[in-house]
Amino acid sequence: MTVPPRQATPALLQIDAILSRLQGRQALAEVCRFLRSSFRHYRWVGVYRLEGATLVLDAWDGAQATEHTRIPLDRGVCGRAAREGRTVIVDDVRSDPGYLACFLETRAEIVVPVRRDDRVLGEIDIDGETVAAYDASDERFLEAVADRISGALERSASEPPPA
Ligand code: SME
Repeated sequence: MTVPPRQATPALLQIDAILSRLQGRQALAEVCRFLRSSFRHYRWVGVYRLEGATLVLDAWDGAQATEHTRIPLDRGVCGRAAREGRTVIVDDVRSDPGYLACFLETRAEIVVPVRRDDRVLGEIDIDGETVAAYDASDERFLEAVADRISGALERSASEPPPA
């Protein structure tokens, strides 16, 4: 178990505190920073927003920027999660033919849709540096995070695009 309940519960409370203090894209960026600094297996954390049939990178935190700032829905692990409206865990990106490479160090990835009712608004995308870095505890935890950030993601759609 990589996110034990004794860590998940206080982390969700911290995220609630961030969301009560900040709004829109600023809140999303702070949530990305918080997740990356709190969990060692979250090496790159991003939030994509669905615009038509394209996922657009809205906020992220990591050592490097990604070249994949716009991902068509029919591409990548990111496209798969949004299209199917479900969490996708890739244990080893080197054996996933659909994977879009960003960072040499990445070995595992988890992508969790953010929804409002039944509509997919976007997703949380996290990269890790060890094979099988993510399990059902990450899925449960990140789905709770995704529920919380849907309002901030909707709001960021009406803000000027990121620089
Ligand atoms: N690996 C993703 C692309 C986004 S980067 O990981 C930041 C994919 O396969 O869709």
